[in-house]
Amino acid sequence: MNLHFVIAEAALELIPEALWRESSVRRDAERRAQEPGGILLDRSVHHSAMLKLGDGYRRGRPDLVHLTLLNVTSTPLHQEGKARVYIQTVDDFVLEFGEGTRPPKSYARFRNLMEKLLVERPEEGLVRVRKATLPQLLKGIGTDFSAGLSVQGAPERLEELAGELAPLKHPAVVVGGFPRGHFLPRDLKAFDRLVRIDDRALDAHVVAARVVYEVEKATKDQR
Ligand SMILES: C[S@@+](CC[C@H](N)C(=O)[O-])C[C@H]1O[C@@H](n2cnc3c(N)ncnc32)[C@H](O)[C@@H]1O
Repeated sequence: MNLHFVIAEAALELIPEALWRESSVRRDAERRAQEPGGILLDRSVHHSAMLKLGDGYRRGRPDLVHLTLLNVTSTPLHQEGKARVYIQTVDDFVLEFGEGTRPPKSYARFRNLMEKLLVERPEEGLVRVRKATLPQLLKGIGTDFSAGLSVQGAPERLEELAGELAPLKHPAVVVGGFPRGHFLPRDLKAFDRLVRIDDRALDAHVVAARVVYEVEKATKDQR
């Protein structure tokens, strides 16, 4: 089996043009000697500008996306080539990490890499970038089952879900890469099942680590 792990509606995007003239954005661009359109939107730096965004509460957290990504790519499952990871962003870009590709652990290096990828949008290489919604991504992968993870889902033990995924060829597990809120209705429709794995709302990186560990255990006889 090859697990397709998707960090969806991820709070990782270049600063939108509507905010380029905001003072916190201009100051940051000058400090970094870059154009505003080539910088990642980051609530810790652009908070005042983000107040102008209606859905700003779920955007501008590339640090959370980084943590979640590392919790998948640092695992034995990923290093053995049994897991593929995708970041599907809030503005509908997909960054697909090649087999075994390990992103930088340093946040500054991760940020610089993401900015370069989102500006250049390479179609080949260790990380490929293309335009796609979550339903388009899942359809393109050709998943045989997709589970969306959400506090709005039906309660299920993660061990049981992993046991169902293990015999499949191309199952997908999707976690939200946003700090608050829920999946868009458009994306909810793309899941075969919506699953809640805990009574509490957990951080996406904790969910990611648990999912991969349970899949490792469930597939260990097959590996
Ligand atoms: C910080 S949460 C987003 C906030 C949102 N209120 C939530 O929990 O769905 C990030 C992601 O972690 C996953 N997640 C968090 N708690 C979960 C739970 N108890 N069951 C299933 N997935 C969970 C979901 O994929 C969620 O989109």
